[in-house]
This record gives sequence, C-alpha cells and structure tokens, in this order.
Amino acid sequence: MRVFVAGATGATGTVFIPRATAAGLDLVLHVRPQSAAKTPLSADSRARVFDLSDGAALAEGLVGVDAILSLVGTMQRRFDSGDTYESSDILSTRQLVAAATTAGVARFVLLSSYGAGGAGAYLQMKGKCEGIVQGSGLQWAIARPSALVSPDGLVGTDGARTVPWGVQGLGAALRSIPGLRGIVDGARPMPLEVLSRALVGLLGAPGGRVVAGRVLWELGSA
Ligand SMILES: NC(=O)c1ccc[n+]([C@@H]2O[C@H](COP(=O)([O-])OP(=O)(O)OC[C@H]3O[C@@H](n4cnc5c(N)ncnc54)[C@H](OP(=O)(O)O)[C@@H]3O)[C@@H](O)[C@H]2O)c1
Repeated sequence: MRVFVAGATGATGTVFIPRATAAGLDLVLHVRPQSAAKTPLSADSRARVFDLSDGAALAEGLVGVDAILSLVGTMQRRFDSGDTYESSDILSTRQLVAAATTAGVARFVLLSSYGAGGAGAYLQMKGKCEGIVQGSGLQWAIARPSALVSPDGLVGTDGARTVPWGVQGLGAALRSIPGLRGIVDGARPMPLEVLSRALVGLLGAPGGRVVAGRVLWELGSA
C-alpha cells in the first residue's frame, strides 16, 4: 500500500515512518519548504518538498497513492510562527481531502485527539477537521489518542512529546476510584510506538471508524 504522509516531519511522523516502513508500507513523505532545512527527512528519497497549497505538486505527490495519512497539527504556543488551527489543521484537512477526491485516492486516515468536538478552541477545531473527513465521501478512519509520548531520542521539528511529571501519578490515583479505571486506562498518555502501530492497522482496516480509548490501545498493542 502506498501512503502519502502529511505531517511527516513532526513528533508522530518521526516515530511512525520507520515502523510503517518495516510493516511494508510504501511511503511518500510530505515536507513543508520552511521546514526542509530543519529535518533529516529532506535527505530521504521518499520526501516531497512543497506547500500543500501547491495543487500541482500535491497532485503529483498523490500519483499511485492508495491512502493519505494526516498527522498535521499545530498548537497555540506556535501561533507566533504564523501557523494557526485554521491554517494548519483545518486548511490542510480541506486541501488533502479535496486533492484525494480529485486524484481518486480512496482512503483517508486522520490523527485527531481524545475529546474532539468538546469544549475549548483546540477540541472544537479537531471536531471540525473530523467533520471534513467524515463528509468527504472517502473511506475514512479517525484516531483519537490522548497525550502523546515520544521514545527517547526521537524528535520532530517541534521536539519530542512528553507528559508533565504528575500526570501519571494523577492517573494512578484516579484509577483506584471505583468505576473510573476503564476511563482512565483508555485516556492515559500513549507512547508514539503504540499509536504508530494503531495507525498502520487503521490504514489497512475497513473505513468509517472513530477509534479512541481502550480500542485504540488494543489496536496499537496487537
Ligand atoms: N502532542 C500530543 O500530545 C497530541 C495528542 C493528541 C493528538 N495530537 C494531534 O496529533 C497530531 C500530531 O501531533 P504531533 O505532536 O506529532 O505534532 P507535531 O510534532 O507538532 O507535528 C505537526 C506536523 O504538522 C505539520 N504542519 C503544521 N502545519 C502544517 C501545514 N499548514 N501544512 C502542512 N503541514 C503542516 C508540521 O510540519 P513542520 O515540521 O513543517 O512544522 C509537522 O510535520 C496533531 O494533529 C495533534 O493535534 C497531539
């Protein structure tokens, strides 16, 4: 299966790429021009450097592609760099869905977030991205992990993903409350190796699934 990976240069992409390659996926790795000098992926023969607004380059990158995986996203602390939820998460989802439709790419897997569509600007934005994918007519799947955790030594263009000290302890305390154990276990921070296995699984699974919590953990642990 040939997969176009948007957001390949990030924390998730950095962990996903070697695992997906080992699983036999043929990857096309998207790199933004402004990040080309910051990422070792620029030297990877599978990388394509262009802005997603370049429709011709995107169409060329999608030739022969069976599925798009979007790992694109930003955070409020990066808004100063010019990226916003609208320009990164929402616009890229629109651009990729439109290009997939035109190019005849059948499948689309979106990395979203636990609680998407809930309260707050970030979760509302994630809900919008999910809505674009779900209304696309493509065979879609959506992963909703909780906080992500990078393995030692693997960083994307924005560094590694870590969970603040105390979160694990809080989880352990909540877990001991009757009735909360299942919820806390499903929402616990997810190592990027586990998420990467789950994403490989979703790329090969039937579409129409929003996968979160315990089910996402099971998919990533299989
Ligand atoms: N971090 C967490 O704890 C967490 C938890 C749940 C869900 N998520 C979601 O999971 C996804 C991946 O997270 P992450 O931590 O791996 O993110 P990350 O390290 O910040 O990587 C984000 C990726 O998106 C790319 N990107 C940003 N704006 C773009 C645009 N306009 N066009 C094309 N590419 C663009 C970045 O490219 P550059 O390298 O060029 O900047 C980078 O490759 C995000 O959607 C995030 O919201 C994260």
